[in-house]
Amino acid sequence: MPHFRTLYAITTLLLAIPAMAQKFDGLARTPQMGWNSWNKFGCNVSEQLIRETADAMVASGMKDAGYQYVNIDDCWHGERDARGFIQPNPEHFPSGMKALADYVHAKGLKLGIYSDAGWKTCGGKPGSRGYEYQDALTYAGWGVDYLKYDWCNANGLKAEGAYLTMREALRKAGRPVLFSLCEWGDNKPWDWAKDVGHSWRTTGDIYPCFDCIEDHGTWKSWGVLQILDKQEGLRRYAGPDHWNDMDMLEIGNGMSVNEDRAHFSIWVMMASPLIAGNDLRSMSKATAAILTNKSVIAVDQDSLGIQAFRHSARDDVEYWFKPLAGGAWALMVLNRNAAPREAGFDWKANPVQDELSGASATFGSQRYDLRDLWNGRSAGNTSKPLAVTVPGHDLLLLRLSPRKR
Ligand code: GLA
Repeated sequence: MPHFRTLYAITTLLLAIPAMAQKFDGLARTPQMGWNSWNKFGCNVSEQLIRETADAMVASGMKDAGYQYVNIDDCWHGERDARGFIQPNPEHFPSGMKALADYVHAKGLKLGIYSDAGWKTCGGKPGSRGYEYQDALTYAGWGVDYLKYDWCNANGLKAEGAYLTMREALRKAGRPVLFSLCEWGDNKPWDWAKDVGHSWRTTGDIYPCFDCIEDHGTWKSWGVLQILDKQEGLRRYAGPDHWNDMDMLEIGNGMSVNEDRAHFSIWVMMASPLIAGNDLRSMSKATAAILTNKSVIAVDQDSLGIQAFRHSARDDVEYWFKPLAGGAWALMVLNRNAAPREAGFDWKANPVQDELSGASATFGSQRYDLRDLWNGRSAGNTSKPLAVTVPGHDLLLLRLSPRKR
């Protein structure tokens, strides 16, 4: 019975290979929302900052608007102890991470932490290479809910394998953790990370400027428009539980109010995670109003989870459409120029067709009511062409709702 023996041997072998676990499903059915320390505070992180930020997230209305995660980025680390367990920096986190997680949880929020797949983090702190299962167990014991996992000092490693190892480690540790991949799009994570993490960075680091490239010598950071342009071709990879991450927000970090509003709208249209990067404790009313605009946030959090596509562009003005649940649409009329631009859209002459999702709108036969999501007012309907002046580095963001026939 050679055949039987061969079959038996193959089956035994297959059973002996440990089954790979899955990522924790359902933690980011819509793009995750929260705050992260890096853009504003860099390595100056402490338990006091995190506690005060959690307080401010509640007091400012951010929690009520849907923000949930308070994320500590690089440099929270102290050393590993004699048995290899990572310790927080004892001066900056004297009460320890478990106490901090308890504080954040008591506010109805969640705690995020940061590590790196390589030997060291980008800030030179201990990385997780070789300690993945131990670190995942440590984070679970502390009550961590979110892991941003970076890609510095990873020489000789292959990204897919390195991120898979941490996914497995988190899964085995047992506590549901949103896994946010941060390898800057270098290894095309959109091709392999759908089942590894809940989001992946698509670019290098953001820079608080609307239209700039900041050259640091060995690396560059990118303005808002530069990051938008790098999303080309990626929309088909995103969806519920696996998002293209355009990096943390720079709202309130030095751009003008109209640029901040445009920055937020672009991230929303692209269904990017919304992770604020400013000082929530001292933000201006204008910054808070942008970050907490619920009808704008609803475009990002729409249940279909479909990224916008660029319909057309003329004279530095771009027209982006995002299909929304219930047959609605969002339209962004983006002026990339620093000077005002006349813009217009002839509804009847421009049926909108999204080949990816199959959504379509024929404005000749179906009328839509228009709402300006930034001023909250009606902007008429699609019975006559749109004609507007868009200020420099600003935009019009409309919600199109089909009128019942
Ligand atoms: C990288 C990441 C940033 C931040 C820093 C921390 O540059 O892309 O978002 O986490 O490391 O050192």
